[in-house]
Amino acid sequence: MALKFITPEEAASLIHHDDNVGFSGFTAAGCPKAVPAAIAKRAREEHEKENPFQIGIFTGASTGDKLDGELARAKAIKFRTPYQSNPDLRALLNARETHYFDIHLSELAQNLRYGFLGKVNTAIIEAADVTENGEIIPTNAVGITPTICRLADRIIVELNKKHPKEIRGMHDIYEPEDPPRRREIPVYTPSDRIGKPYVKVDPSKIAGVVVTEEKNEGGAFTPIDDATMAIGQNVAAFLVGEMKAGRLPKEFVPLQSGVGNVANAVLGCMGENKDIPNFYVYTEVIQDSVIKLMKEGRVLFASGCSLTVSNEVMDDIYANLDFFKDKILLRPQEISNNPEVARRMGLVAINTALEADIFGNINSTHVSGTRMMNGIGGSGDFTRSAMCSIFTTPSTAKNGKISAFVPMVSHVDHSEHSVKVIITEYGVADLRGTSPIQRARKIIDNCIHPDYKPLLNEYLGMSVKGHTPQHLKCCFAFHQELAKSGDMRNVDWSHYL
Ligand code: COA
Repeated sequence: MALKFITPEEAASLIHHDDNVGFSGFTAAGCPKAVPAAIAKRAREEHEKENPFQIGIFTGASTGDKLDGELARAKAIKFRTPYQSNPDLRALLNARETHYFDIHLSELAQNLRYGFLGKVNTAIIEAADVTENGEIIPTNAVGITPTICRLADRIIVELNKKHPKEIRGMHDIYEPEDPPRRREIPVYTPSDRIGKPYVKVDPSKIAGVVVTEEKNEGGAFTPIDDATMAIGQNVAAFLVGEMKAGRLPKEFVPLQSGVGNVANAVLGCMGENKDIPNFYVYTEVIQDSVIKLMKEGRVLFASGCSLTVSNEVMDDIYANLDFFKDKILLRPQEISNNPEVARRMGLVAINTALEADIFGNINSTHVSGTRMMNGIGGSGDFTRSAMCSIFTTPSTAKNGKISAFVPMVSHVDHSEHSVKVIITEYGVADLRGTSPIQRARKIIDNCIHPDYKPLLNEYLGMSVKGHTPQHLKCCFAFHQELAKSGDMRNVDWSHYL
């Protein structure tokens, strides 16, 4: 069946108010760019005519500014799921002008197939190639592409010529059967291939192909500061200690590492620590540091669902595809983040907390309990199922005015039952096999900033002595003080008693 080539505007005209649209990509990688911008333009035009125009959006995770940013600024988003990180979209969610539901990334495709989240009217997919018989080669991310292509009534392909067709072979596309027919997902090592190198769709559903040459929206990482470097070194030293104690095998286990600057720096430090053997990565986002370590021979293979790298690194990968193609595998997020696979492989999972409490509960998402930052992402997929779940965080934020450690987290994403180790620039709190009071001592003694030690020791001293010592009048004093004076260090307990 011949492919029909259309303009972004023609593609946008196929999207109607109230439609639910599934977009390819995961982070800025792999997202369509020209068609979302044309949809945003259309929304603005309809709004000028006082017509409603808003769509529901399913994506793999966060997207580029040309998708979430454009549509948010055009007030064209009715609801959005899952993880996001665009400042304009974040402002809409926190103003409750756009509904947002945050969901574990491994679950999204399955929940869409179950019909829990409504219909997918259109799938808009960035591709490096598309054939007349319906084989779509994704670009640098897979996300939920196979599922939205199968569920959608129509598919619009954004064929991006900046991504070489030769990327074919880097993807492994597999969708599991849904319960009760599901069998095990046969991924036993990070490099196992279990699917096809392309997404197969019914070619009659391809409503049009938009040809673009849009640049990848890969952002740069900020230079590593002293605290971030110390966190990385503490993680590496902890893992070496685990190997020496025989709790991690000599050959190591595959590593999952989260998003952001801290995660990128942690990996860099692990690579530099010569006591850590060359290792495999089974993760969600493959960041710059993985590629650097791969070139140095430190990372032997990386499986993920997205190449979330800077444009410079993306260009390097494409210029050296022969080297990288048998070392990188991109899977749907349902597989890259699958708890069954994570538990089987025994991953070391390293994710970043926004806030932790002295008993080991983690808040990854809500600033002061109310304002959404990004979302839970894949952190829960891995934390609960990994062999060793580590959370890293700088001990303070905003020049020391915010302590990352509080008496009680203002929102819980990962409970004390799943969190095994917490690491800051000051040190390591190994929480395995410890009671709440022992956890509090380890966190206060090893992880927090010295400015906050007296306050948190006082909190423990005045708390009600149950199994978990808490003081229900004072447990949110840090957050209340931040709202009042802008500095948690000003907490005066007498104001809360
Ligand atoms: N209260 C308020 N703000 C805080 C804070 C706190 N307790 N802790 C950090 N912040 C602010 C920082 O000051 C910074 O603000 P800025 O952007 O204005 O400078 C911002 O949050 C990001 O913090 P940063 O230290 O730069 O960390 P990061 O880039 O490593 O991101 C998370 C940290 C938690 C936001 C990020 O890792 C995330 O979204 N995690 C959840 C999803 C996840 O874990 N995914 C991985 C699964 S594979």
